[in-house]
Amino acid sequence: PKITYVAVDGTEQAVEVPLGTSVMRGAVLNDVDGIVAQCGGNAQCATCHVYVDETTLDKLAPAAPEEDEMLDFTACPRRPNSRLSCQLDVTGDLDGLIVHLPERQN
Ligand code: FES
Repeated sequence: PKITYVAVDGTEQAVEVPLGTSVMRGAVLNDVDGIVAQCGGNAQCATCHVYVDETTLDKLAPAAPEEDEMLDFTACPRRPNSRLSCQLDVTGDLDGLIVHLPERQN
């Protein structure tokens, strides 16, 4: 599936992310800057914060409780479209997903 990462300055990187990985891993694998992922994908650090583009929000299932709790600890303000990218499993449904990177992660 193709996922587009948009940097703070508006630069877009559209990359093919392997099924079974995560939106966080997709960024790391493709050298997309702006994701720190300190805890390695365990919903324990909130440094993989992304803002999901409003036009593609319907591709995602709602956050599980542990993700929801951790979203209160993001470095940039939490918004209704905030998600932890490590908790977004890459399935075919995510094709076309667009995520915006926050200004900072810690
Ligand atoms: Fe730590 Fe996502 S990588 S919460």
